[in-house]
Amino acid sequence: MNLMESERQVAIFGLGFIGLPLALSFALKGCRVIGVDVDEQLVQDLNKGVTYHLEAKDGIPIQQILKEQLAAGRFRATTDPEQATKSSTDVIVTVGVPVTDGIPDYSYIRAAVQTIASYLRPGQLVLIRSTVTPGTTRRLLQPILESSGLQAERDFYLAYASERIAEGRAFEEFENMPTLVAGAGEKSLKRAREVLSIVTRAEIHEASSYEVVETAKVFENISRDVDIAMVNEFAVFTKAIGIDIFEVIRLANTHKRVNLLQPGPGVGGYCLPNALYYLLPRALEANLNLRLLPVARRINDETPRRIAGLILKNLPVPPSRAKVAVLGIAMKDYSNDDRLSPALKVIQFLESAGVTVAAYDPAVPHQYPFKVNSLEDALRGANGIAVLARQKNIDYEKLTEFRKLMKEDPFIVDTRNVYNRRQAKAAGFRLETL
Ligand SMILES: NC(=O)c1ccc[n+]([C@@H]2O[C@H](COP(=O)([O-])OP(=O)(O)OC[C@H]3O[C@@H](n4cnc5c(N)ncnc54)[C@H](O)[C@@H]3O)[C@@H](O)[C@H]2O)c1
Repeated sequence: MNLMESERQVAIFGLGFIGLPLALSFALKGCRVIGVDVDEQLVQDLNKGVTYHLEAKDGIPIQQILKEQLAAGRFRATTDPEQATKSSTDVIVTVGVPVTDGIPDYSYIRAAVQTIASYLRPGQLVLIRSTVTPGTTRRLLQPILESSGLQAERDFYLAYASERIAEGRAFEEFENMPTLVAGAGEKSLKRAREVLSIVTRAEIHEASSYEVVETAKVFENISRDVDIAMVNEFAVFTKAIGIDIFEVIRLANTHKRVNLLQPGPGVGGYCLPNALYYLLPRALEANLNLRLLPVARRINDETPRRIAGLILKNLPVPPSRAKVAVLGIAMKDYSNDDRLSPALKVIQFLESAGVTVAAYDPAVPHQYPFKVNSLEDALRGANGIAVLARQKNIDYEKLTEFRKLMKEDPFIVDTRNVYNRRQAKAAGFRLETL
């Protein structure tokens, strides 16, 4: 079946950071797309053209793309999986596997796939894109889909293609990031390739099994987690001997085969902190004792406590009389995502020590008791500033004006390498970097 884009109806389960821009990418190519989510408020907002995501395609913000695709009738969101599944040629799953206390929770993806199984028709493709424990497609998801009475590869097509994009660059990377894919058989692979290549222009690499692609995805994320743990540990060393970690990294990276990442307040978001916990169940099953990877995870996990310590050390007054202005609570620079954000952990440590925190982040939509609505509210009467994530709409250069709003002898703890010593000193701040 080689359908024209306009004849395809694609159902996308999960309309989060991945599902929404993916759905709109298919719509932009002329497909009719129904997005399915269990979150009624989210579905209502999307159908009104409202989203808080910070994605853009060729400078056009996702809000405008969403409104245009709604108006063109190429995208709509629904909480009704029956109609969406039955009327679609292809079904894509982007429902996540959250991790709590190190245990992955498969209930959401299981529920989504169970629903798809109840309405599955012969000839449909089910394409799984969620990040999962190696073996999940074969052991958990394929049997659920086959409980419909239809068999993968014979009656319907099943494939797993990892999602490798970074939030904030979704539209560009859906098109230009190479994709890895594995299928239940040759026909499933061919069909998945056909659907993937509607959006991607980059190479599509076929793998010999689902497990290869599932494992490659988890390794990709863990490798970044380990790389960041390494530079976070390097930062502990440079601090102890009194040199600047960012200068060391900049110079070390002039080596042609070295590419150190940037240290920071820790590692957050959905992808990197969870990755190890997708691997551990299989390691346990194989009776393996992985040593390096859990240590790296622990280093990143403990970093917010170290940063809170640096802030507390700089307070000119006892914590109970101190106010700290936190700039940026997102899980990384220029993001609206605060899931598992290290900044939130730093704030928790500060508050538990008695410090009053006023955090400003114009991109993160979530409300918190410590969050304020303007930079001025954060800075007014503060003893110091903690830069925990960069955001576009904060004018970091105006240090002299910041100073005027703050108490005597102010300090900056800069985890994002925004300020240099000379600049901070000129504006009357003590500067502490990582
Ligand atoms: N966020 C990233 O940068 C990124 C990058 C690569 C891969 N991934 C992977 O992609 C997947 C999705 O991540 P995300 O960040 O978009 O997650 P998300 O939490 O933003 O979105 C998931 C959505 O699924 C919905 N959902 C839950 N149960 C459902 C059901 N039964 N039916 C329909 N919808 C349901 C949720 O309400 C939510 O809106 C995860 O597996 C993640 O690991 C994420």
